Amino acid sequence: MPLPTRVDPSSLVDSVHQAFKDWNVTHDTENALTSLLLFQRAAQGHPGRPPRFVLQQMLQDALASLAQEHPDDAALLRRRFIEQATAYTVANESAVSESTLYKLQASALRRLTDALCQQEAMLQETHLHGLVERLEPPTYTRLFGVDEQLDQLSEKLLAPEAPPILSIEGMGGLGKTALADALVRRLLTDRKVTEVGWVSARTHVLDLTGQIQTVSRPALEAEDLVAALHTQLLPQRSLPIPERALTELRRHLKQTPHLIVVDNLETVLDLEVLLPLLRSLASPSQFLLTARRSLQGDPAIWLHRVPHLSQENALRLIRYEGERISFPQISAAEDAELLPIYHIVGGNPLALRLVVGQIQHHGLDTFLAGLVGATGQAAENLYTYIFSSAWSILDKNSQGMLLTLGILDPGGADLEYLSRTGNLDRGEIISALDRLVSLSLVECSAGLTQRRYSLHSLTRAFLQEQVRKWQTQSPLQTAAMP
Ligand SMILES: Nc1ncnc2c1ncn2[C@@H]1O[C@H](COP(=O)(O)OP(=O)(O)OP(=O)(O)O)[C@@H](O)[C@H]1O
Ligand SMILES: [Mg+2]
Repeated sequence: MPLPTRVDPSSLVDSVHQAFKDWNVTHDTENALTSLLLFQRAAQGHPGRPPRFVLQQMLQDALASLAQEHPDDAALLRRRFIEQATAYTVANESAVSESTLYKLQASALRRLTDALCQQEAMLQETHLHGLVERLEPPTYTRLFGVDEQLDQLSEKLLAPEAPPILSIEGMGGLGKTALADALVRRLLTDRKVTEVGWVSARTHVLDLTGQIQTVSRPALEAEDLVAALHTQLLPQRSLPIPERALTELRRHLKQTPHLIVVDNLETVLDLEVLLPLLRSLASPSQFLLTARRSLQGDPAIWLHRVPHLSQENALRLIRYEGERISFPQISAAEDAELLPIYHIVGGNPLALRLVVGQIQHHGLDTFLAGLVGATGQAAENLYTYIFSSAWSILDKNSQGMLLTLGILDPGGADLEYLSRTGNLDRGEIISALDRLVSLSLVECSAGLTQRRYSLHSLTRAFLQEQVRKWQTQSPLQTAAMP
C-alpha cells in the first residue's frame, strides 16, 4: 500500500465532518481519513476491529489533544456529534444563536482537521526517516545513466501484475547496489511504497586471528536472512528460535506489503534453499535481488541486466570524479583527451572511478599504457591490474588502513572507531583515509552522525587475494607486507 500523499486540511475537513456525522452508523462507510498513516497505525493498535471503530478511536484521540488548547471546541464537537445533541439545544446551552453555533462548529472542525494533518505530517516524516535508516548510506553523490533504468524498474515493480521477485544483475562494480539503493529511495520519496527492508549478503572475507587469515563463510544463509529481516522489521520483538522467526516474519510480510532488497546474492551459499524461501515470503511483498550471477532460467524471477555506461555517461562520470578529487586536467579535459580511458576501461563505473584517482598519480599516458595489457582479457584482470597498481603507490599507513578496513565489518567504520583500532594517531588516520578516498579504494559515505568509511566488495576481494599470496610467500618476500 503506498504512503498517503501529503495531506491538505481543506480537502480533509469534509471527511472529518462526515466521520462525525456517521458516528452512530452501524456499518463501515467510505471515508478518506482511512487512507491516513494515522489510521493505519491506529488499526495496528486494534487488530481485528472494524474501520469505523478505528476511526472513532482516532477522532477521540484527536479531540483529547484539541481539548488541551481549545477546550470549548472539543466540548462542542463532542456534544454535537458523540452525544448527538441538536444544534438548537447546543446553541441554547451556549447562549448563542443557531447560526453562530454553526460558525463555531465549522471553526472547531477546521481546528481539529489542522491538528490531524499536523500529526499525520509528523508521523509520515518519522516513518520515512525510519525506513531510510534501514538502507545503507549511499556510496555515490550522483549517478549517471540510471534514469531510464529507474523508470523501467519502478514501472515493473508497481504494475498490477508485478513479479514477486526481481533481480538486478551484472558484473562486479557495474552499479547494481547503487541502482537498487536509488530505486528504493525514489519509491520512498514518491510515496509509492510504505515499507522496505534491506539485507546484505556481503562476506567478511578477512579475519585477524594473530595473523591475517581468510575466512570464506558466506554472510547469508537462509536462516541468517530470516534473522536479519526479523531484527530489522520487527525490532520490538526479541529474536525467537529460527522456525518461530520465520513464521512471524512470514505473517508480517503477508499482512503488510514490503519491498525487500537482498544485496549481493552471489555470496549466498545455497540458492536452492534461499530462492524457494523468498518465494514463500513474497506476494504481496516483493524482493529485489542484486547478483553478479544471473538467475536466468527461473520463470518466477524478472531479470534486469545493468548495462555498461554509455560513452557519454562514462565521460560525465570521469569528469565528475576529476572534480571530486580536484584534478582539473581531468574535469576540464576535452572529450578527445578522455576517450582513451573509456575505450580501454569501458563503462564500468567502479573501474572508472578507480582509474581516475590513479591517473592523477601516474599520468594519463603511463597509466593507460599499462592498462592496455590488461584489456582484451577477463574483466577481473582489469581489476587486478587497477588494484595492484593502486596498492603499489600507497604509503605504509594507507596500506595498513586498507587492511584494517578489510577485517572490519563490511558496513564500514567511522573515524572514532578507527582511532581506537590500530596504532596510527588521528592525523595519520585522516591522511591515510584521504589518500584512499581520493583513489576510490575507500568509499566515504555520510552516516547518521559520522562519515563512514568502507570498502567495495571488489577491493575487499583484492585484499583477500593479496593476503593469501603473502601467506604462501617465503618469509623474505613477506617482509614486504605492511
Ligand atoms: N551509474 C553510476 N554513476 C556513477 N557512479 C556509479 C554508478 N553506478 C555505480 N556507481 C558507483 O560505482 C561503484 C560501484 O557500484 P556498486 O557498488 O553499486 O556496484 P555493484 O554492481 O553492486 O558491485 P558488486 O557486484 O561488487 O557488489 C560505487 O562506488 C557506486 O557509487
Ligand atoms: Mg553491490
